[in-house]
Amino acid sequence: MPVLEINNVTKKFGGLTALNGVSFQVEEGEIRGLIGPNGAGKSTMFKNIAGFYTPTNGSVIYRGQNIEGKSPHIIAELGIVRTFQETTLFQELTVFENALVGCHIRAKTDLFSAILGLDRQQQKAAAEKVMEVLDFMGLADRKDQLASELPLGSQRALAISIALVSEPKLMLMDEPFAGMNPEETNHMMDLTRKVQESGITIVLVEHDMKAVMGLCHYLTVLNFGQLLAEGTPEQIRNNEKVIEAYLGGAN
Ligand SMILES: Nc1ncnc2c1ncn2[C@@H]1O[C@H](COP(=O)(O)OP(=O)(O)OP(=O)(O)O)[C@@H](O)[C@H]1O
Ligand SMILES: [Mg+2]
Repeated sequence: MPVLEINNVTKKFGGLTALNGVSFQVEEGEIRGLIGPNGAGKSTMFKNIAGFYTPTNGSVIYRGQNIEGKSPHIIAELGIVRTFQETTLFQELTVFENALVGCHIRAKTDLFSAILGLDRQQQKAAAEKVMEVLDFMGLADRKDQLASELPLGSQRALAISIALVSEPKLMLMDEPFAGMNPEETNHMMDLTRKVQESGITIVLVEHDMKAVMGLCHYLTVLNFGQLLAEGTPEQIRNNEKVIEAYLGGAN
């Protein structure tokens, strides 16, 4: 059974059709690339999966269960977490404090009441989980630094750490490589592989073709809200329709 089945999903905003009858399936344990030109509907697809939007039509099935229309915290509780295209760190909080946010991703309450509501033992367990994740992501040494002091690569690693603290099974990553230099890109590729090897299925939205082609087992290509092509990185790299709509001569 696939982890995620997108069946004929359409999302309209007034007169604009951002997604138009898109279907694809994601298998357990893979890194799936979801690519396509600006405005193709990639982030909109993530928002429909994560419960931020309800599809106008179609269904989203996660491990055999319909989740379209469920609220984001219910979907997070089921094990789906999204990392955002926009930076969402609390710049004035430390790395450790930011990562604690992940402990409450699954809770309905706001961050501070969630943390204040934890008893001593729960606080200890939360702190241990946070340190385990920061260590895994190579951020343990930076735990007391402010998020605003981190270089870009570490900020992105922290965003992923927040997601990991919630113990997801499926991670939706929206442009984690944007703006990175080659060294940061290589490091983030290693971290992404490490996350996948720890047993988490990943769907990666990304324009950096080095990262996409190097990491993904299989690619789903959207264009103007529609499915344009699917295949291995090799097949997609050589697909005429994809080259024309997106990859151009650059590849
Ligand atoms: N809340 C919204 N209201 C109206 N239109 C929206 C909304 N969200 C997205 N859109 C439109 O839907 C289309 C798809 O947008 P989306 O953000 O999903 O694209 P994308 O593939 O993530 O692009 P990019 O690569 O630039 O991030 C765009 O035309 C966008 O303007
Ligand atoms: Mg986007």
